[in-house]
Amino acid sequence: MKIGIIVYSQTGNTITAAQQLQQKLKAQGHTNTLERITVAGNASPESKDFRLEYIPAIDAYDALIFGAPVHAFSLAKAMDVYLNQLPSLEKKDAALFVTKQLRFAWTGGNRAIGRMKKICETKGAKVLGSEIIIWPKAKENLEHIEGVERLTALFTPD
Ligand SMILES: Cc1cc2nc3c(=O)[nH]c(=O)nc-3n(C[C@H](O)[C@H](O)[C@H](O)COP(=O)(O)O)c2cc1C
Repeated sequence: MKIGIIVYSQTGNTITAAQQLQQKLKAQGHTNTLERITVAGNASPESKDFRLEYIPAIDAYDALIFGAPVHAFSLAKAMDVYLNQLPSLEKKDAALFVTKQLRFAWTGGNRAIGRMKKICETKGAKVLGSEIIIWPKAKENLEHIEGVERLTALFTPD
């Protein structure tokens, strides 16, 4: 299965989790590519003054994993804008993850995942599962980030 791991990462945590996910999926025999959305301008929560710069295309992938940070108790805006501009996701499986600082899922994690899920499902994707990765905890053991193995397990080995 060709999987596209598409992330937005401002300070590097989400991309670090994605890199580990990439290795684990590869070990399971999945061809996968990690792509990072980039922005021009200021994509902070209070700003409207940015545009997507690198916009990964999705047509080559059978399945997609989208990852992004939680910003201001919500999905980071760059990922929101990215997901909204995607074409149909009909016939594609998807998995979702966010990274965040605060320990409890209700401090933006559930909301961010809910938002990603809603956009993906509206576009026709089948969402297989999702994870909220609490970064300070994940950082303690970067070889085994909690949640990454569960995300990998969503995809049956090739
Ligand atoms: C502007 C801003 C807002 C944030 N808001 C939240 C928040 O509401 N809840 C939370 O748990 N973490 C919050 N964080 C922490 C990030 O979600 C966390 O550090 C994340 O892992 C960053 O991912 P990145 O390094 O891929 O950008 C915020 C960080 C920034 C920079």
